[in-house]
Amino acid sequence: MEQYVIKGGNPLVGEVEIGGAKNAALAILAASIMADETITIDNLPNVRDINVLLGAIEGIGAVVERIDAHTVKINGSTISGMTVDYEYIKKIRASYYLLGALLGKYKKAEVALPGGCDIGSRPIDLHLKGFRALGARVDIQHGLIAAEADHLKGTHIYLDKVSVGATINIMMAAAMAEGKTIIENAAKEPHVVDVANFLNSMGAGIRGAGTDVIRIVGVEKLHKTEYSIIPDQIEAGTFMFAAAATRGDVTVKNVIPKHLEATTAKLLEVGCEVEEFDDAVRVVCAKPMHHTQVTTLPYPGFPTDMQPQMAVILGIADGTSTVTESIFENRFKYVDELTRMGANIKVESNIAIITGVEKYTGARVSAPDLRAGAALVIAGLAAEGITIVDDIYYIERGYENFEEKLASLGAQIEKVSSEKEIQKFTLKVS
Ligand code: UD1
Repeated sequence: MEQYVIKGGNPLVGEVEIGGAKNAALAILAASIMADETITIDNLPNVRDINVLLGAIEGIGAVVERIDAHTVKINGSTISGMTVDYEYIKKIRASYYLLGALLGKYKKAEVALPGGCDIGSRPIDLHLKGFRALGARVDIQHGLIAAEADHLKGTHIYLDKVSVGATINIMMAAAMAEGKTIIENAAKEPHVVDVANFLNSMGAGIRGAGTDVIRIVGVEKLHKTEYSIIPDQIEAGTFMFAAAATRGDVTVKNVIPKHLEATTAKLLEVGCEVEEFDDAVRVVCAKPMHHTQVTTLPYPGFPTDMQPQMAVILGIADGTSTVTESIFENRFKYVDELTRMGANIKVESNIAIITGVEKYTGARVSAPDLRAGAALVIAGLAAEGITIVDDIYYIERGYENFEEKLASLGAQIEKVSSEKEIQKFTLKVS
């Protein structure tokens, strides 16, 4: 088991390059099986979730050729099975995108039902409602979701709740349905737009992605394409907040500043300076930070995937702040860990009430999930003394070379795998 060991206190300074968006890439990889020609995908983040999904795609018989760490070629013409088993889905929920992709292409798919997740119950009723509306029979049996249709027929779907996953999954199936589909109350996240752009580059007829009404004219076939994935707004935001927490000066490169507006707005509110360039943002945070209020909301609101990182910042800002989590029901599991580092946070239902402390103090903590894990690393970078973050495999699901990128900004952080290495690090930095 690996850990991060961190000696806090160094302001992060310098430039960091952001990779491709994990959540866009997951959907795009699944969608790429929908053609019988070779699809080339570039700017792929080299993280665990992506590699697991590529395994699932190979598992159903597609040809997956890894050109380099960030480029892959996929050919779906050799697909022999329509069943994605639990081995993959238990590791990443997003393998359920193969449901929409297989159903669209072959009118048949069987995917293991995703299990519970550590940020609360995560139903997929809206995905299934969409498939049924398109004319599929959907059954849940023996832990599998089985969807089948003689043909899929375009329809009008209203999503009761804004859901990224349901919007993308329905959009994929509808891309190869007969006639026109309208998805209302669709998610507007940048990765929804990226998946639509990708499908359109394969010949799909999708309009309106990025607004709350998506219109899709189904096509019979999708063709080859070469596509580069958008930058990861959450990785970017994480580095922006790491700069703020350490009172640093970091230029985050290869980003789309528009996608970072909610994150940027909160940094300005707490008193940091943010300078925007064409494809970079610079965060400078020299002065003490102030309290503020944050509520997570679907895009363009403040992203739930930045909620733990935001709480870490507010934990060392002046005064009392609140963080309201409106998307997932159990996303405050990191609070106990942060409290061990000296934070003063009280959680009441879906609101964290945070009274800023002067500083965090290093402690041994565990990453409870991907984004909360990254947030604890940020706390460690800002803390006095040594922090050890256990269970970093969560963090590696979504951050490529996290410790190397942080170290290049002046952080004292190492990935270790034994108590001996932890001691060695401690001796080296003290
Ligand atoms: C995606 C992201 C995740 C992010 C989340 C919200 C991926 C792989 N994951 O997750 O990182 O935190 O968006 O931005 O892209 N819901 C239902 N029924 C459904 C589907 C969702 O009630 O059928 C609810 C969920 O419980 C949640 C809300 O809708 O309360 C939003 O979830 P959703 O946008 O679907 O999240 P994911 O796509 O799972």
